[in-house]
Amino acid sequence: MMPQVIDQIAEVAGYLWQKGWGERNGGNLTVRLETDDSEISSQTYGEAVPLGMTLPHIANRCFYVKGTQKRMRDMARDPMANGCIIRISETGNSFRYVTSPVTPTSELSSHLMAQNYLIESGSRYTATLHTHPIELVALSHHRDLLDDTSRPNRLTRTLWSMIPETLAFAPLGIDIVPYEVPGSVELAEATLKKIRDYDVVLWEKHGVFAVGQDIMDAFDQVDVLNKAARIYLDALTYTAVHPESQPEGMTAKAMEDVQRIFQLPKQRPC
Ligand code: 13P
Ligand code: ZN
Repeated sequence: MMPQVIDQIAEVAGYLWQKGWGERNGGNLTVRLETDDSEISSQTYGEAVPLGMTLPHIANRCFYVKGTQKRMRDMARDPMANGCIIRISETGNSFRYVTSPVTPTSELSSHLMAQNYLIESGSRYTATLHTHPIELVALSHHRDLLDDTSRPNRLTRTLWSMIPETLAFAPLGIDIVPYEVPGSVELAEATLKKIRDYDVVLWEKHGVFAVGQDIMDAFDQVDVLNKAARIYLDALTYTAVHPESQPEGMTAKAMEDVQRIFQLPKQRPC
C-alpha cells in the first residue's frame, strides 16, 4: 500500500508545480499512512522531536510530511529526499523519524491539528494540503469577499455560479481564514475552526488549506475551485473593456437543478 501512496504524493507534487502553485518551496502536505503497513519500519532515527502541543488522536500514527524549504518540483522526482515519514509518540506530543530525517514543513501545526480532528471525528480522510493557487489567492485580496460572513459566503456563491461542476464537486464551498503569520499556531487554530465544516479554506493573501480522502482528492477540490476563480477573473477582463457588462453567473434555478440532480451533501460525507 505504502508505495502507491508515495507515488500519488509524487504525482500531485508534480501537478502543483505545473500549475504554478508551488513556487520555490511553496506549499506542503501530509498524508496519514496505515500504521500496520509492513512496509513501514518499526525502527526510528534520532531523538523524539517535541510538537509543542498534545494531539492525542494522532498518537502512534505515521504520516508522510513534506520537508521545510523543499520544493514541490523536487518532491515530484524524489518524495523521500524532500519529505519523510514520522511516527507520533504514544502521548501525542512528539514524533520520531521513521525514514531518513528531513525537518518537517513549517506548517506542521496546521496539518497535524487537522489530522487530529479528522481522526477524532471518525473521518476516513487521510490527507491535508496547503498550496498557493494563483486565482484564489488573487480573490483573497478583495475586502468585500473577505468580509462577507453570510453562508454560503459571497466568494463561494460566485465560484459555484461559474460552471455547474464547481457546485457538483465542491459542494461544501470555501471559507476564509483571516490573515495570520505563515507557520504560526494562530493560523493552525483558525484553520482548525473552519476545517470542521469545509474541505477547503482560503488563507487570506497566502494560499489554501484542504483536506481529502487522499492527496489526489484534496488536490482535485482545490483545482475545481481555482478553475472557477480563473473563469471569474477571465470574465472580468471583458468587463474591464465593457464596464456595462458584468459576468452573469448561473441562474438560481440552474444551481438548484445541480443541487437536486447530484443530491449534494451539506456536510463532509465521510
Ligand atoms: P515549508 O517549505 O516550510 O513547507 O513552507 C512553505 C509554505 O508554503 C509556508 O506557508
Ligand atoms: Zn504557504
